[in-house]
Amino acid sequence: MTEGVVLSVNDLSVNFGGLKALNGVNFELRKGEVLGLIGPNGAGKTTVFNALCGIVTPDSGSLSLNGKEIKWPKPYKLAKLKIARTLQGVGLFPDLTVYDNVMIGASKFAESGLMRAAFGTNHKDEKRLKERAQAALERVYVGAVADRRADTLAYPDTKRVSIARALVAEPEILLLDEPAGGLGPQDIEWLNSLINNLKSRTSIIIVEHHMDVVMSVCDRIYVLNFGEIIASGTPAEVRDNEAVIQAYLGTKSKAKS
Ligand SMILES: Nc1ncnc2c1ncn2[C@@H]1O[C@H](COP(=O)(O)OP(=O)(O)O)[C@@H](O)[C@H]1O
Ligand SMILES: [Mg+2]
Repeated sequence: MTEGVVLSVNDLSVNFGGLKALNGVNFELRKGEVLGLIGPNGAGKTTVFNALCGIVTPDSGSLSLNGKEIKWPKPYKLAKLKIARTLQGVGLFPDLTVYDNVMIGASKFAESGLMRAAFGTNHKDEKRLKERAQAALERVYVGAVADRRADTLAYPDTKRVSIARALVAEPEILLLDEPAGGLGPQDIEWLNSLINNLKSRTSIIIVEHHMDVVMSVCDRIYVLNFGEIIASGTPAEVRDNEAVIQAYLGTKSKAKS
């Protein structure tokens, strides 16, 4: 294992019928870094997250966490593995309150038994969970809307709540799928600073089409095209890579999803 690698994916392939969504994908995430995963619409970015989260089953490939090879996780194992994700779009339950939406992330945390380890208390201690959910909401500046139904929020606030739901489990690895999608410049600026603040305690993989976000928050970037990594490097290296320009940046208008 390379020193400081928290997550390593080797030779990951995923087929949907005859479609090779991912074909021999390799990448590694280092501790405390923000890793960008970019590429045109349909390149396979979300499928990488789905494989990591047990939503799709890989046809081949292996996964290591902190240098130890593990089985591809089932969704209910993620909290224990300290992995959390946000969904492309928003993915909140519209009829539930903001607070209950975040509690879904917190209850996973409780079920993992970590709650008991952290607080020396019964894992059904709902009060603690509530405090945790409230703190997560306040961290992304939406604490005041905790009691509102999710479907009454303005769109940028729903994106914040979806991040709170991921943060409430205190992940060591955070997967963000298009967090800037649909946001205006002010919210994007806020998102940039949030991601930079999270880095000290969380290693992050971000899938994002907004190149200004990618260029400002990422330490390294991998570029996917038709299910294969075609380039990797620093933001500047990737930006100047001819294959990337051809595959992605040159067709930016088509790349929006
Ligand atoms: N569950 C699925 N069943 C069938 N095809 C899928 C499924 N998920 C994704 N795909 C296909 O796999 C390819 C990669 O999709 P995706 O990972 O969502 O791309 P990206 O996130 O890069 O836009 C696309 O062609 C998409 O239509
Ligand atoms: Mg996607």
